[in-house]
Formats: sequence, structure tokens, C-alpha cells
Amino acid sequence: MSDSLVLVERRGDGERRVAWLTLNRPKQLNALNDALMDELGAALRAMDADEGVGCIVVTGSEKAFAAGADISAMAKYEFMDVYKRDFITRNWETMRSVRKPVIAAVAGFALGGGCELAMMCDFIIAADSARFGQPEIKIGIIPGAGGTQRLPRAVGKSKTMDMVLTGRMMDAAEAERAGLVSRIVPADRLQAEALAAAEAICALSGPSVMMAKECVNRSFEAGLSDGLMYERRLFHSLFATQDQKEGMDAFLAKRKPSFRNA
Ligand code: CAA
Repeated sequence: MSDSLVLVERRGDGERRVAWLTLNRPKQLNALNDALMDELGAALRAMDADEGVGCIVVTGSEKAFAAGADISAMAKYEFMDVYKRDFITRNWETMRSVRKPVIAAVAGFALGGGCELAMMCDFIIAADSARFGQPEIKIGIIPGAGGTQRLPRAVGKSKTMDMVLTGRMMDAAEAERAGLVSRIVPADRLQAEALAAAEAICALSGPSVMMAKECVNRSFEAGLSDGLMYERRLFHSLFATQDQKEGMDAFLAKRKPSFRNA
């Protein structure tokens, strides 16, 4: 097994391929330390810039997507260590600047920072073995990578308070019912299903995919009127692309579109 904390592969056989990023600290259940988050940030930036990549998948092991920020590293931190080094903000938030779609393929534990990392992705495909939770309260802290903000947007206040205040886990079925994950698949199908979803995205027009992602993300920041205007203007702008002509011509001619990402 490679020493890299994040394994980077390209999968799929389309013209634009899937960047497959595997968190690789299996013995520590992929506990997220600074070195791993630096590698993940670098891989995300590189894959986002690569014209040959249309979609990114982030995944872990069968037992854990990630069991949280690395407690053995954090245990010795003092306030000035985390404040001056801008712990979390410095290297975890790269994910927010990625313009291509990022799918989290989650099996096993996604706890604390692991659940938060999955929520930073654009959507979550869960194996039936997945367990989500924000157990930070049990070790004398609170979620620090967006858990108190993104979880209520996904599952509402009551369930978030339950998760954050008791530290309990929810299984994949509960996570799907609550809207945290987009779909559940059998654990042994997780890679195949995530790859199929990512390849389907790779086959679409890159600019429309990026604009769709931008619009949905805008809904979390803007009021309804501003969000609708943002969507409308990007919708209008797509009529300037070759891919809009190709997509609609292909539909009318009953043939497969051949997008040029332009
Ligand atoms: N940090 C560091 N090491 C961790 C870890 C973490 N978050 N989670 C698991 N590990 C390590 C364990 O210490 C253990 O190491 P050793 O073999 O050297 O003893 C190894 O991974 C395997 O773990 P367990 O033996 O505990 O496995 P288990 O199957 O019995 O339990 C578990 C699994 C329920 C996930 C349990 O490991 C656990 O509760 N982990 C911690 C979960 C947690 O509290 N996460 C939140 C961290 S704080 C955070 O994330 C802050 C933030 O918001 C950014």
C-alpha cells in the first residue's frame, strides 16, 4: 500500500474521466490530520484544474469514510496553536473552492470531521453500512468544520440538535430519510454506483454542470429573489454555448450529444 495519505486515481473510460480520491489512513479509521488534509487539498486543486477530469469522488475504506479530525494530534493543542495556525480554515476549506462536482462515497463511519467533510461534498452516496454522527460533544468540544451549520441545512434543527447534543450516530436509512444522503446502495456496490454517477456527470457539458453546482450552492447563501435572478442569468448565459446548440440539436435528431465543454 502506498504511503500517500490520499490515493489519486483516474477511473472510467469516457473522454473526461473520474478523479477517484481515497483517504488512506485505514488503521486510524482515516482520522483527518493536517498532513492528510494538505494532501487532499492539493489533490482537489489539481483535479479541478485538469481538463481531462469531469467529476471527483472522495471515498474512504470499507470500515470508515473518516472517523473525524485526528484526536491524538488535537489532544495537545492549545488555543494559540489552533488560532494562529487557523486550524480547519487553513486546509479543510479547499473543498469549498472546487468548481467541479464532488461526490462523497461513504461506507462505515463518517463521524465528526468525517461527517463534515462528506457534507462539504456536493452529494453523498451511502453504503448501507454507513454511520453518520457529530460526536465531538463527547470529547469536550463541538463540531468545528461546519457540522453545526451544514447539518441543520440538510436535516433540520431537531435532528441536528439531537445529533450534536447527544453525539449519537445515525445509520444510512435514517440519513436518507432525513435528506443527508442522496441514495443508499449495498456496501459491495458502493464503488460501482459512485463511479456510474460520476461517469454520467463526466459525459455532460462541463460548463452547464459547473453552473448548476454554482446555482444550487447559491441557494444556501442568497435570498430567494437574488437566488432566482442568479439562476436566470446563468440559464440565459448557457444559450451562448456550443453545447446548448449541440444538446438540443441532438435531442431533436434523436442522437447522442457530443459535448465539447465549450
Ligand atoms: N482520531 C484519532 N484516532 C482515531 C480516531 C480519531 N478521530 N478515530 C479512531 N481512531 C483510531 C483509534 O484510536 C484506534 O487506534 P489504535 O488502533 O491505535 O488504538 C483506531 O483508530 C481504531 O479505532 P477503534 O479501536 O476505536 O475502533 P472501534 O471500531 O472500536 O470504534 C469508532 C470506532 C466508534 C469510530 C471510534 O474509533 C471513535 O469513537 N472514534 C472517534 C470519533 C470521534 O470522536 N470523532 C470526532 C473527532 S473531533 C472532530 O472531528 C472535530 C471537528 O469537528 C473538526
